[in-house]
Amino acid sequence: MSYNPAFVENVINSFGSEKSRIIQMLQDIQSEYRYIPREAVAQLSETLDIPEPQIYHIATFYKAFSLEPRGRHEIKVCLGTACHIKGGKRIAEGFERSLNVKAGKTTSDKMFTLETVNCLGACALAPLVQVDEDNHGKMTMEKIERVINAYINNK
Ligand code: FES
Repeated sequence: MSYNPAFVENVINSFGSEKSRIIQMLQDIQSEYRYIPREAVAQLSETLDIPEPQIYHIATFYKAFSLEPRGRHEIKVCLGTACHIKGGKRIAEGFERSLNVKAGKTTSDKMFTLETVNCLGACALAPLVQVDEDNHGKMTMEKIERVINAYINNK
């Protein structure tokens, strides 16, 4: 999705151009673009009179924000204790191989961002992988391709 200054202007206006609402503004921008484009940081800085480094500081402090384009689908492989014991690390490596991307990165077609996380809060399903909002519990190496393909075919 290409950058649209009018969208960011609307976001800023919807929070009354209040500097203190910068986090909410970043959240709205992130949900539209799935990341915080550099142009948005420049526009926020200019309109709200907040130095760019300060905005980057906020955007890098909160893990929910990304300054890199994210994939259409987010894959989280759990490496919390329960999942780790049940082979979570191998599952993470399996996804890395299948997607040809390292954890923390996005595939070149921008289809998937792969992350490893600590405990998704459903340890009974270990080893657990979450894609967007969907839980894929009791994950096995054999199921990896099937899970990936389900999202490719269902984009
Ligand atoms: S350790 Fe994976 S869901 Fe809790």
